[in-house]
Amino acid sequence: MPDALKVLVDNLLAQHLLTQDEAGVFFQVSAHETNTNTDAAQPISYTPKNVLVTGGAGFIGSHFIRFMLATHPKVMIINFDKLTYAGNLDNIRDVAAQYPDRYTFIQGDIADAPTVGKLLATYPVDTIVNFAAETHVDRSILDAGDFMRTDVLGTRVLLEAVRTHKVARMVQVSTDEVYGSIPEDAFTESSPLAPNSPYAASKAGGDLLARAYHMTYKVPVVITRCSNNYGPFQHPEKLIPLFTTNLLEGKKAPLYGDGLHVRDWLFVGDHCRALNVILTRGVTGEVYNIGGGEQKTNLEITEHILTTLHLDVSRIMQVQDREGHDRRYAIDCTKLRGLGWMPLYRFADALTKTIHWYADNMWWWKKIKNPAFQAYYAQQYDKRSPI
Ligand SMILES: NC(=O)c1ccc[n+]([C@@H]2O[C@H](COP(=O)([O-])OP(=O)(O)OC[C@H]3O[C@@H](n4cnc5c(N)ncnc54)[C@H](O)[C@@H]3O)[C@@H](O)[C@H]2O)c1
Repeated sequence: MPDALKVLVDNLLAQHLLTQDEAGVFFQVSAHETNTNTDAAQPISYTPKNVLVTGGAGFIGSHFIRFMLATHPKVMIINFDKLTYAGNLDNIRDVAAQYPDRYTFIQGDIADAPTVGKLLATYPVDTIVNFAAETHVDRSILDAGDFMRTDVLGTRVLLEAVRTHKVARMVQVSTDEVYGSIPEDAFTESSPLAPNSPYAASKAGGDLLARAYHMTYKVPVVITRCSNNYGPFQHPEKLIPLFTTNLLEGKKAPLYGDGLHVRDWLFVGDHCRALNVILTRGVTGEVYNIGGGEQKTNLEITEHILTTLHLDVSRIMQVQDREGHDRRYAIDCTKLRGLGWMPLYRFADALTKTIHWYADNMWWWKKIKNPAFQAYYAQQYDKRSPI
């Protein structure tokens, strides 16, 4: 087993995010996907060397950086992050310590064109993976201003920088929410965009700019649209960490409406693997859906959390629904599977391990549930009478 991949697998085992059996499968598939295995059927078409990861102090970006450093032994990473309320250097502290020569953190704003320009003039960046975004639907309903600035204008700044500085490849990390709600079947990459929240609209704006820059200027960008992620280090404003941490604090889980809204769920490690496959083998100008094929209602997720924590349904507080709440998301990932990717983590196991991670790492989320968070929580939930 190559050393770097072994370190990653050992870390996942230590965090109880993989069993010994799963570790074997994980290694085989990762070795294939990263082409560390000489028998790999699919050749790598693009080799990233100096990668600018934007938003790498957030949930998914921090996992992606850890994955890339472990599986690409020569890759250099610059993590460029504004450190908004959602950015957290605790998410990536182990990486900074483990890879001092291959990892650099720079605080900055993707919507600040002069700073981004200076960064690309200073460092030999060949690849950009853009995670930086305002990401919480509820906050976008309270105030959409920052969403437009970062998710739309910030994406444009990055696309302009790719064009000007001849960056070889960019991945625009987007969401299945841009398609809107679908009562049955699943969206493909050619389904029309019909965003229903200001967050989804801001992400759709970024996607459309990426497409336009590819069509107009041949900017080498690939767009990915992933379903709901879960895993360690997710901000406790999002459903799974919010409900888990509330319950651990002796509070209730505030479930929107009847709880029958359906989402497709994917473990964050599987998202990172998919992004790596798309970065190295995807075709520029194309869109790739990424999903776990695990469609669950919010009520089912809540019941799983309650069971894992040995609690009963009396701890659910049904509250007035989110405005414009999409009923069902589902995406077809046939195109990505054609590149050789498939999800490795089984939903029920990975969700249980994720819940245990929050129970074991209160130090991490207690700092985040600070007075500013409590003020947001009161603004968001106090107005919603229980139903
Ligand atoms: N979480 C999910 O379930 C999910 C699903 C599909 C797609 N996505 C997409 O993946 C990406 C990452 O999501 P996440 O859940 O990790 O988000 P997150 O909110 O945990 O992290 C976002 C990060 O971006 C940084 N950031 C925000 N504005 C910035 C700016 N102007 N300049 C630089 N950095 C800035 C924040 O400080 C934070 O570190 C987003 O683009 C999101 O739309 C998320």
